[in-house]
Amino acid sequence: MQIVILPTADDVAAYGAQLFIRQLTDKPQSVLGLATGSTPLALYRLLIRACQQQEVSFANAKTFNLDEYLGLPADHPQSYRYFMQQHLFNAIDIVPANTAVPDGSATDPVAACQRYEQQIADAGGIDLQLLGLGRNGHIGFNEPSSGLRSRTRIKTLTPATIADNARFFAPGEYQPHLSITMGIGTILDARKVLLLATGANKAAAVKAMIEGPLTAACPASALQLHEQAIVVLDEAAAADLSDIEFYRHIERENQALLKRLASQ
Ligand code: GLP
Repeated sequence: MQIVILPTADDVAAYGAQLFIRQLTDKPQSVLGLATGSTPLALYRLLIRACQQQEVSFANAKTFNLDEYLGLPADHPQSYRYFMQQHLFNAIDIVPANTAVPDGSATDPVAACQRYEQQIADAGGIDLQLLGLGRNGHIGFNEPSSGLRSRTRIKTLTPATIADNARFFAPGEYQPHLSITMGIGTILDARKVLLLATGANKAAAVKAMIEGPLTAACPASALQLHEQAIVVLDEAAAADLSDIEFYRHIERENQALLKRLASQ
């Protein structure tokens, strides 16, 4: 795991945006894994700006979102498809048919999950997967106890996650308790994984993910198994880490090494 600790949430977004821009510059036909939630919003704003200023293009890219509420149609304002249209897709030059979000209104959701896995495989696999982090350590909607090799499937949300996400729903509005989510195995298959976490309310989950044991009790700890996982944190989210000075030291060494290699 590469652990990058930056002063503010804006710095985290800027770092993440640069990685996406570099990915698309190196490989314009990249397959990108995308996430919802409040954490990636600032990153998406930066990508929109970069696209409008023609610093980056999504015209040849494909995207796959991590998850979707089961039971919400795509045009429901709380659906993750709607979120992606509003916060990214409508404002960039991506081909609409090249954006995939699990189908929350599928008549046969089990078959829809299998189809989603097949679509990812047919696209050649995910090059760069963006992740947020649930306060309980979930990634996508892989809640604690999720199988570490799980694939796209229907998952029940924990009461804690339902409560955390209630802020997006109007009082009394129907809030789904089920989701379709890429599995942890699906996420681990991505060539590169970029997890962003900001704010003090993520500090405990960040500590469990990085310094805790590899365990289904903290699904994000599965990133410990990934060859190229980059975790980008602001100071507040990193605050509980015991070895924080060591992670800063490694990152300084990494940067110095990259500089040396670039100047050769
Ligand atoms: C949701 C999403 C996750 C997201 C998490 C954190 O439950 N399914 O993909 O990472 O919440 O959200 P936020 O970034 O709003 O804290």
